[in-house]
Amino acid sequence: MRTATSALKSKDLLGIEALLPDEIELILDTAEGFKEVSERPVKKVPALRGQLVINLFMEASTRTRVSFEIAEKRLSADTLNFTASGSSVEKGETLIDTAENLVAMHPDMIVIRAKHPGAPKMLADRLPNVSIINAGDGSHEHPTQALLDAFTIRERLGRLAGVNVSIIGDIAHSRVVRSNIHLLTKMKANVTVAAPPTLIPCEIGKMGVRVVNTLDEAVEGADVIMMLRIQLERQGKLSFPSLREYYNTFGLTPERLARASSDAIIMHPGPMNRGVEIASDVADDPKRSVILEQVTNGVAVRMAVLYLLGGAHNVE
Ligand code: CP
Repeated sequence: MRTATSALKSKDLLGIEALLPDEIELILDTAEGFKEVSERPVKKVPALRGQLVINLFMEASTRTRVSFEIAEKRLSADTLNFTASGSSVEKGETLIDTAENLVAMHPDMIVIRAKHPGAPKMLADRLPNVSIINAGDGSHEHPTQALLDAFTIRERLGRLAGVNVSIIGDIAHSRVVRSNIHLLTKMKANVTVAAPPTLIPCEIGKMGVRVVNTLDEAVEGADVIMMLRIQLERQGKLSFPSLREYYNTFGLTPERLARASSDAIIMHPGPMNRGVEIASDVADDPKRSVILEQVTNGVAVRMAVLYLLGGAHNVE
């Protein structure tokens, strides 16, 4: 029997949209405390000892899957990795049946990445005794990515409020952009999005962001330039003439970056398509690119999320 006593109001993390600014700040502050654990000779604390976390990945992932698993191990949780490939999903078992069978073995938390928007919420509604953490659902939300992005911005620039963040790329199909817009606008940052018109959904203006149609407009005055890849797997066919033309108009090259402030930092959630949305020289810029810092910070942020949700329960 479990009872909620967390500072986070929900037992689950399904998205940024439902989080309060205070909850976002709590997660980022908690992550700040956990970052140091990964720098110790013995990279482990006993916070989740005895808890079982299942990583249920129904879609490909490198960073998120590995980062959650490392975060769980650093908190001393028991971890189990489940992927659709090689499981009875291949025999037609549904997601909910799969999850209910896993829950019958008493996990405390399930981290889920799903192709379908809303799948984590469906599990959260059906499974009241388990915390569900959304590790990316279709083009809906990717809350821990936005949290680690915010952590990285705050660490580099010292604040979120008033920071000018330009997000450039496939706005239409990106769960990262949706979570980032929710988070950054709640924390009073100024968000600009840029893409070819076919990759900007018409409702985006209602999310409180500035929309521009050229990369030059987006980088001018930006403190943070966040590049997104073209999500070819979520498009039936290219929404623009060719990848070469995309690079020529929306690829972040050293020449285009020269229009930005010399202090502007470069972010990318990964995976990167070098030579499509970003030039290698920019991605690897030792001073301005924080792309691998984002990955490092992902562990601390996911430790914070797991700790705050795992600590939300008292086992009786
Ligand atoms: N940023 C991100 O979600 O990367 P993966 O798809 O590799 O997890």
